[in-house]
Amino acid sequence: MHRRNFFQLAAAGAAAAFQDNAIERVRAAASATGGRTPEDVARDEDYWSEIRGAFSIDRNIINFNNGHVSPAPRTVQDILRRELDFTDMGPWHTMMNVLERQIENVRVRLAAYAGCDPEEMAITRNASESLENAQYGIDLKPGDEVLTTNQDYPRMLTTFRQRERREGIVLKTISFPVPPPSMDDLYQRFERAVTPKTKLILVCHITNRTGQIFPIKRICQMARSRNIPVIVDGAHAVSHFPFKLSDLDCDFYGTSLHKWTYAPIGTGFLYVRKSRIASTWPLMAADKRQDDDIRKFEEIGTHPAANHNAISEALVFNENIGIDRKAERLRYLRDRWANRLSQNPKCKILHSLDPAQSCGIGFLAFNGAEALKIHDALWNKYQILTAYVPHEEYTGLRVTPNVYTTVKEVDRFADMVEKELRN
Ligand SMILES: Cc1ncc(COP(=O)(O)O)c(C=O)c1O
Repeated sequence: MHRRNFFQLAAAGAAAAFQDNAIERVRAAASATGGRTPEDVARDEDYWSEIRGAFSIDRNIINFNNGHVSPAPRTVQDILRRELDFTDMGPWHTMMNVLERQIENVRVRLAAYAGCDPEEMAITRNASESLENAQYGIDLKPGDEVLTTNQDYPRMLTTFRQRERREGIVLKTISFPVPPPSMDDLYQRFERAVTPKTKLILVCHITNRTGQIFPIKRICQMARSRNIPVIVDGAHAVSHFPFKLSDLDCDFYGTSLHKWTYAPIGTGFLYVRKSRIASTWPLMAADKRQDDDIRKFEEIGTHPAANHNAISEALVFNENIGIDRKAERLRYLRDRWANRLSQNPKCKILHSLDPAQSCGIGFLAFNGAEALKIHDALWNKYQILTAYVPHEEYTGLRVTPNVYTTVKEVDRFADMVEKELRN
């Protein structure tokens, strides 16, 4: 580490120690990086140890399943707790009169963060709720085809399968190799599978399995030229790697904010292109007057306002790190174990090595070893948590470290995988 950076960090650390305020520490650490490149900062363990300090995680386990759900930093937990305490001082008044109104400010913050108009941004409880609003909300006739992949999220596939049983629509799934030869190959697979009966496309921005990123804009533009709406499953994309919704040209975009955005568990958003709002039915009924109001997708009955209000604090936390730095760090951690294990003849790396096609999600498969046994051994013997991901075409471990992960933890994971493979 450069001497100057060390002293800047030390000074920043000393200043922040007085405040014991995680957000100040993260901000101070960011200013101490003094204009260095994201690639440089990605390797700076002093910087990332400040970020680690902002989380109240259990230091005795190595959690490499942040893809499922991520812990929120202390600042987010504090706001959540404070608002829940305030709520119970008189829920009708405190929640309905005071806290719930703040959803409009959250909407404006979140829309600016994600890159859309606030009137296209509905705040939901998770990606499932967001995506099912779109999946059920679009009128389809018997025989109409919906196109997606066989690696899309099981609940989203189940949603269309229920519409098959109930309404006679037809779900068509395409398969693709992992890793695929190129983004162009993924695009061509979609284009080839479109027929005159295709009335809707569902595609992951980044899959939850091998973390494959799709050429969303190209797929959306191809679909638009045929008047086919596209629902993008962005459960793992927001706050994971840099992009703006306005760059994608999609019709619907659903995400969870309790994954890579570190908002409270039970937060998400649904983007709906303005011209699609009126023709899309909400999951829970809304009044006709709300037909072209994005808020109709938020008609879910009584729910805590604290959760969605604390989203703003999570956005501040992410902004203080910076999405370019975050994406570089996640790639750096992934490459550290993957480059090493790729040398082991018993290991197969199934995520793409092209930075445009992948980021923090890594996927480890095995030659001649059972992935489930390795998964269980890692957890039971060493408290290293990964996600066991079976699929009809391949099986392995999804590995998702986080911004609070240390390189020592990554190295221990690689050491223990090698040890188990020797056994
Ligand atoms: C690709 C994908 N879509 C949708 C979801 C559903 O997210 P949630 O359970 O937060 O609603 C997930 C969850 O992991 C996911 O990985």
